[in-house]
Parts: sequence; structure tokens; C-alpha cells
Amino acid sequence: MTDAPLIKLTGVGKNYGNIIALRDVDLEASAGEVTCVLGDNGAGKSTLIKVVAGLHRHDTGTYEVQGEEVAFDSPREALDRGIATVYQDLAVVPLMPVWRNFFLGSEKRKGFGRMDIDHMRKTTQGEMAAMGIDLRDVDQPIGTLSGGERQCVAIARAVHFGAKALVLDEPTAALGVKQAGVVLRYVVQARERGLAVIFITHNPHHAYPVGDRFLILNRGQSIGYHPKDEITREELTALMAGGSELEELAHELNTTTPSDP
Ligand SMILES: Nc1ncnc2c1ncn2[C@@H]1O[C@H](COP(=O)(O)OP(=O)(O)O)[C@@H](O)[C@H]1O
Ligand SMILES: [Mg+2]
Repeated sequence: MTDAPLIKLTGVGKNYGNIIALRDVDLEASAGEVTCVLGDNGAGKSTLIKVVAGLHRHDTGTYEVQGEEVAFDSPREALDRGIATVYQDLAVVPLMPVWRNFFLGSEKRKGFGRMDIDHMRKTTQGEMAAMGIDLRDVDQPIGTLSGGERQCVAIARAVHFGAKALVLDEPTAALGVKQAGVVLRYVVQARERGLAVIFITHNPHHAYPVGDRFLILNRGQSIGYHPKDEITREELTALMAGGSELEELAHELNTTTPSDP
């Protein structure tokens, strides 16, 4: 069973009433790999990760974790199997210190139930440093960190508490180029620590450098599923733009190139 991918979805479908949000989608995520899920707004990306995260139950198809079929009733059940999800609107308490947010809900205690603040401060600092961010002050309110740094704290937290799979819903969408780079570096760090990462984005330029495989969704259906050595950045970008005005424009601008024999 250990050779089975950590996460495997086969032929998964999900409807909301009569809206078909996902149809016949396959997805695998293995330890030490980054699987990117790309698609425009409404493509079904969030629905797919909500199925993976245990927030929604799929209507058709199968969901396996390490070769065993699962049907999660809550995110807690997914988390118990090592599947941690970091949502775009992070559940942080802005005025609380960084270390407090890091340990939120999993506070380290010593005798008489007192919090082991020293341990939590040092651990937070150490885990951030281990992934390449030197936080000067773990006592500062988390609300004073940049959006990218807050994403990184959430990722480091999942890694620290033993996640095997990390699902990231558009972690770079709201960020500028520099901060997106910081988060992407963190995605790579998580992979190097052996996690199976599922990285959701609508930006092929964020996905391509870090991804090992790419699933492209369009209106709930897969329009491509490729390992990195089978697709170029240009092809990925073109698939993402498929059927859109962007594609037509790109086509118009390329008409000088005769087609291959
Ligand atoms: N809770 C819901 N109820 C009804 N329709 C929904 C719900 N969530 C998403 N949808 C619809 O399902 C489709 C896929 O949405 P979503 O998974 O959020 O796409 P994405 O994350 O790629 O933007 C869209 O047509 C969206 O309007
Ligand atoms: Mg979404």
C-alpha cells in the first residue's frame, strides 16, 4: 500500500443542485511532489479541494488515501489522515502574537495546565527559520506580517503538526510578485520536506516553476493532466486561456507562423 499515491481521486463528480461543478475528474498527489490545479474562475478548483479537504462529499467517483477508499464527513477527519488545507482567508487572530497563532488550538502546556510560552516561541521561530524565513520577532501581532508571510506561517504550522498532504487554495492570488515568490519558495520547501502538495492557482506563471504535474480544469472538467516533462510553460498558458478571448487574440497575433507539416 505504501506505493499508492497519498491522494487519488478517480472520476470524481460533484453537483450543487443542478449545477455541475465537477465532472469525471482524476487527480493524484504523492509525497515529495507538487500537483498544481489550474483553471479560470468557476472552473471547479475550490470544489475539488473542498472534496479533498473533507468539506464536501463527492457525488460520483472514488477518493482514496494511501490506497484506501475514504468518504470524509468533516475537515477534521481529513486532518486526522494528515491532509491539511490552508484557505485563502486564513483563520488567524490578527492581534495575537505570531507564536500564539502558530499554536492556536494545539497549545503546548506544562505543569498545572500553564502554557509553555518559551517552547512555543522558540518552536515558531525555528520552524519558520527551517523553511527559510527569519522572523525577527515572534511576539509581534500576526496582523503586522505581510500576506505572504502569513501564508508561510500557515504552511509551516501544517508541516510542524505532521501534515502529509498540504492543500493550498490560491495562496499567491492576492500577492504582489515579490511576496508570491516568498510563498512559492515555501511550497518548494514543503515538497522537499516530503509533503504531497496540491497547489491551486489560476496563474500558470506561478504554477509552472514549482509544479511536478498540472491538472487544468475548465467548467468542471479536466482539459489536461500532464507531468512537467510533457508540457511547456507556453502550452500550459495556452491551455489555461483555452476557448477564451485571450486565446483568440493569441491566435490572431500568431497567424504569421505557418502550421507544421
Ligand atoms: N455552494 C455552491 N452552491 C452552488 N453553486 C456553487 C457553489 N459553490 C460553487 N458553485 C458553482 O460551482 C462552479 C465551480 O465553482 P468553484 O469550485 O468555486 O470554482 P473555482 O474555485 O475554480 O472558481 C461554479 O459554477 C460555481 O458558481
Ligand atoms: Mg475558488
